[in-house]
Amino acid sequence: MRYNVIVLHILKSAQFDKECIDTIFSITDSLAETAPQVLAGKILASLFYEPSTRTRFSFESGMIRLGGNVIATENAKEFSSAFKGETLEDSVRVLSQYVDVIVLRHYEEGAAVRASVISSVPIINAGDGVGEHPTQALLDLYTIQKKRGAIDGSRIAFVGDLKHGRTVRSLAYLIAKYKDISIHFVSPKELRVREDIRVYLDQNGVTYTECEHINEIIGHVDVLYMTRIQKERFTVEETYGSVKDAYQLTATLAHSMMPGAIVMHPLPRVDEILPEVDMLPQAAYFDQAAYGQKVRMALLMYVLTSEQ
Ligand code: NCD
Repeated sequence: MRYNVIVLHILKSAQFDKECIDTIFSITDSLAETAPQVLAGKILASLFYEPSTRTRFSFESGMIRLGGNVIATENAKEFSSAFKGETLEDSVRVLSQYVDVIVLRHYEEGAAVRASVISSVPIINAGDGVGEHPTQALLDLYTIQKKRGAIDGSRIAFVGDLKHGRTVRSLAYLIAKYKDISIHFVSPKELRVREDIRVYLDQNGVTYTECEHINEIIGHVDVLYMTRIQKERFTVEETYGSVKDAYQLTATLAHSMMPGAIVMHPLPRVDEILPEVDMLPQAAYFDQAAYGQKVRMALLMYVLTSEQ
């Protein structure tokens, strides 16, 4: 057995234990500039029903770097048979006979789990509506480890649209598995993190606070995890208008962070981090996106080259 396989599908961040995360990170670390061609002859299908830049391109380019091939539809809502009324289940049932792994992004929470029930090949959840984004959480965690040297003991603030942000949900679930973690949730009242996360943190003895203002926490955290207000997920436009400018990280504000603290963001940003922050040592978000490709390559190796 090549790697210690716990799962075939990648659906939620809660499925990973620390041993499994360590395995994925050590595969990531082992990937040199010239990647091993271990996925030659394998085919990845990327099936995206929602827009994506980083997630799709990092998976696809990662697959190619590992010697594999890619087939893709970047707008499955219009360019796949979904347009003709086909169910996700039927599309996945057929596609899984053509390829070796399916990377799926869908607008409905729970879609990846539904797909996994009928797929004969690994399903990788690349975001299911307001549900989860587990591969992003893994690369976020990897970024914290690389930039700060350790995950244990981290004080992290999640800022922005915590109600709709699936990256925040997945990372909160994942980081809670580490020692001495404290979390600050910073959001407008309407965009508070959902209850399941709070219950999970309570049950696991993770300390957290909730507040509305960034100034209250900025000087006390190791990681400031900014997110955009997710306009497309609002049902009433007026609500968006009242919260869209809730947060803006300026260089002056970033200077008030503790020494060694970092700013992360899953991207895309709108205007919650000003471009002037990009050149500060705190800015980790572009490195975070770069690590994403390597972590996703490791995940592809993990699901495709392990003995099941
Ligand atoms: C995020 C997503 O799709 O959930 N983007 C990403 O994958 N890096 C965040 C977002 O859309 O704001």
